[in-house]
Amino acid sequence: MTVAKKWIYARAFSGLPTAEDFRLEEETLEQIQDGEFLAEAIFSSVDPYMRIYMAQYPVGSVMIGGQIAKVLESKNPNFPVGSYIHGNFGWRTHTVCNPDKTEPHWVPYVLPDFGKEPLSLGLGVLGMPGSTAYFGFLEICKPVPGETVVVSGAAGAVGSIVGQIAKIKGCRVIGLAGSDKKCEWLKTIGFDQAINYKTADIASELKLAAPKGVDCYFDNVGGLITEIVRGQMNSFGRISVCGTISCYNAEKAKVTDPQRDYVWKQLRQEGFINWRWNDRRLEMIEQNLRWIREGKLVYQETVTEGFENMPAAFIGMLSGENTGKAIVKI
Ligand SMILES: NC(=O)c1ccc[n+]([C@@H]2O[C@H](COP(=O)([O-])OP(=O)(O)OC[C@H]3O[C@@H](n4cnc5c(N)ncnc54)[C@H](OP(=O)(O)O)[C@@H]3O)[C@@H](O)[C@H]2O)c1
Repeated sequence: MTVAKKWIYARAFSGLPTAEDFRLEEETLEQIQDGEFLAEAIFSSVDPYMRIYMAQYPVGSVMIGGQIAKVLESKNPNFPVGSYIHGNFGWRTHTVCNPDKTEPHWVPYVLPDFGKEPLSLGLGVLGMPGSTAYFGFLEICKPVPGETVVVSGAAGAVGSIVGQIAKIKGCRVIGLAGSDKKCEWLKTIGFDQAINYKTADIASELKLAAPKGVDCYFDNVGGLITEIVRGQMNSFGRISVCGTISCYNAEKAKVTDPQRDYVWKQLRQEGFINWRWNDRRLEMIEQNLRWIREGKLVYQETVTEGFENMPAAFIGMLSGENTGKAIVKI
């Protein structure tokens, strides 16, 4: 009998989550049936969406989330023993899964060969954040060489990839991030300019960094930062709305008239969820891997050790403690 550990959503989030919002439990798993497999988590992801998606689940549910796991037992030929997989199994150490009974967007898959690159990249640049950056930027912003691109949340899992892809596509790239250290890092990975949104006068710094205005904005944060960037966009600019993390823990919205710029500047804005391109995942993995091997795409991970530290890693990520992808090594 396998005993799984799992983190429970023990109290509804209000503001920034705290340790009291989570409870660690154990569960004895049933023997696997035909079509099922048993997997053991190796790396688990902590992501911003968990903060807002959990509102859809009753208190007492297992925390949602993706993980890289190893198949320990299997009665499903598509998931052989010993294979490494991505599964949206939640914050759990062990899972019995029947892929035919999982939600369509969250179907598990066997990882393709990453060569010398670590398996953990399946949660980052070669996983969901990689798809989010690759498709969310290229398909929605449709960047043209020479254009100016602004990325908010630039030093995070998604933003750091978007900025580098924008450079590969011949754009001028400006990132917004929450510390001088993160801004320095952004410049080392190719961003032309980086602005510390916590200390700078964003509007005037952005005017200096983007004297010809902004053509594409990849928005990870929403709120006031977005209002300022939108105010400096050029006509027919494109905005890819990826997320609004500045509002996830906020009690009330601080933005007043967000629609005005859309009208006067004839902007195009489109929201998206990464799973729109699930059927093209392999294209993203192959392209991002190629860029990594060519030295054009650099990744960073912030690794927390130990399943017991999942809540701390999650709260730390929401507080800006991570650079690049925040993951937990189980
Ligand atoms: N649409 C989709 O399919 C999709 C998929 C994945 C992610 N997303 C969204 O993309 C965004 C980034 O996700 P990620 O996984 O790459 O996370 P991440 O950027 O690696 O981590 C979150 C970062 O958000 C920043 N942050 C926290 N509070 C903030 C605030 N009030 N204002 C501005 N920045 C703040 C922090 O960096 P600083 O130190 O810079 O503040 C923190 O490190 C999130 O909005 C997420 O929900 C969307």
